[in-house]
Amino acid sequence: MADKVFILDTSLRDGEQSPGVAFNQNDKLEIATSLEKMGVDYIEAGFPGSSPGDLEAVKAVASVVKGSSIAGLARAVPADIDACWEAVQGAVHPRIHVFLSSSDIHLMHQLEKDKEQVLQMARTMVARAAGYTSDVEFSPMDATRSDREFVYRMLTECIDAGATTVNIPDTVGYAIPEEFEQFIKGIQENVPNIHKARISVHCHNDLGLAVSNSLAAVTAGARQVEVCVNGIGERAGNAALEEVVMALHTRPDFFNVPTTINTREITRASRLVSDLTGMVVQPNKAIVGSNAFRHQSGVHQHGVLKMRETYEIIDAVEIGLERGSVLVLNKNSGRAGLKARLEELGYELTEEELSRIFLAFKDLADKKGEIDDRDLEALVSEKMRTENEVYRLELVQVSAGNHAVATATVRLVSPDGNIVDDAATGTGPVDAVYQAINRIVAVPNVLTEFSVKAVTEGIDAIGEVTIRIESEGRSYVGRGGDTDIIVASARAYMNALNRLLTTKGSRAPVAVETTP
Ligand code: KIV
Ligand code: ZN
Repeated sequence: MADKVFILDTSLRDGEQSPGVAFNQNDKLEIATSLEKMGVDYIEAGFPGSSPGDLEAVKAVASVVKGSSIAGLARAVPADIDACWEAVQGAVHPRIHVFLSSSDIHLMHQLEKDKEQVLQMARTMVARAAGYTSDVEFSPMDATRSDREFVYRMLTECIDAGATTVNIPDTVGYAIPEEFEQFIKGIQENVPNIHKARISVHCHNDLGLAVSNSLAAVTAGARQVEVCVNGIGERAGNAALEEVVMALHTRPDFFNVPTTINTREITRASRLVSDLTGMVVQPNKAIVGSNAFRHQSGVHQHGVLKMRETYEIIDAVEIGLERGSVLVLNKNSGRAGLKARLEELGYELTEEELSRIFLAFKDLADKKGEIDDRDLEALVSEKMRTENEVYRLELVQVSAGNHAVATATVRLVSPDGNIVDDAATGTGPVDAVYQAINRIVAVPNVLTEFSVKAVTEGIDAIGEVTIRIESEGRSYVGRGGDTDIIVASARAYMNALNRLLTTKGSRAPVAVETTP
């Protein structure tokens, strides 16, 4: 096979370890499908041993996604390896990813085992995984703070036991690029059977060096890079998929080794992950930030207008952004025009989905006049969010003002199809709406985050509200959009509550010590 860098995306596992993020099965399926479309080689879909809910979610991904290999994470204990195999065995290409700490600090204070005991665990658990599948990845956790000779020994024994990929995690984001590059070279020189395995790297971003370290490892011969969309992940996150891929893609003169990623799917995947995690992408974020292709200075604008390459190293089209769309939609546009534009934007909708979006489109066009691509994307997201709802929001009405008690009436359709009305007062209109909804849904929770942003410019823009609520130690994100921000707030709350109701009971809480 021609030389290439394999991409393992762990947004659904390490990404889910971002504080406040919890995916349900549908979220995982949606993100996995988008990663598959992007051509990601391996999707690490979860940590099946951590909860029955995650095991089921990984199983669902394994049964639906056919174009990417599906990996599950497992601690080096029999129950985790067995649960992992149960979850991934339905995949076309299943992988078990076993991890075990290698640093003295972890051995002493976390595992409370000596080196020989740890080697024995690693060997036997890799062999157990290899009894299930020929695709086994092994990670010595905290490798960059470990005694190198010990890591070499651990890798040698794990490859002998059946590991086909050895992953070097910079678990706490401690490495420096030149040093990490030397480490990867050291592995090639000191692990005698390394030719039987692929070297992978998994870098965290505590010093903001995750992407640089990953790329330094590629120059030293690593051929798998573990990444997360938008750089989400534990603490400061993981190496960002879009940055690693676009660096390799933009500088073949330097790296001379490609990925097989369809870069045009990057923008959509980034938006989806931001939507489902509730983690807003910072405007100046490389590749996918909203400012990444905007030019402010007059000198730069002048240059770009004359020739794009004067101040741009990437054509925005390459990452799936549209430039200067010519098709303007308004209230006179028909279903066919809407369908064509949505298809150009990459949405494959059923006739029924299109009908629902068409109605919402007409409503919005009446209020707003011209509809651009950002409005359409917000509309599609809103409609997708309200599929499979437990409770459906039918009506919101508020009265508020500086000399009035904020009062709200809401109407919901309950799971058994009954229409339920209720009303409440609150400290402001949004609080009144939330209190009225609480009277019907009656699930104890605490609102921990609330933010509003305009999707487009202008007074008639769609307002998008993102909230986070907490219940029984878990947090649930909700999003809602509308030109009326009170309605958008109600939708966001319903979205979070519906996610809570869908997830509740399907997952056991993850104990702190099981989290890698
Ligand atoms: O950061 C880490 O060490 C991990 C391993 C489980 C690969 O996420
Ligand atoms: Zn990690």
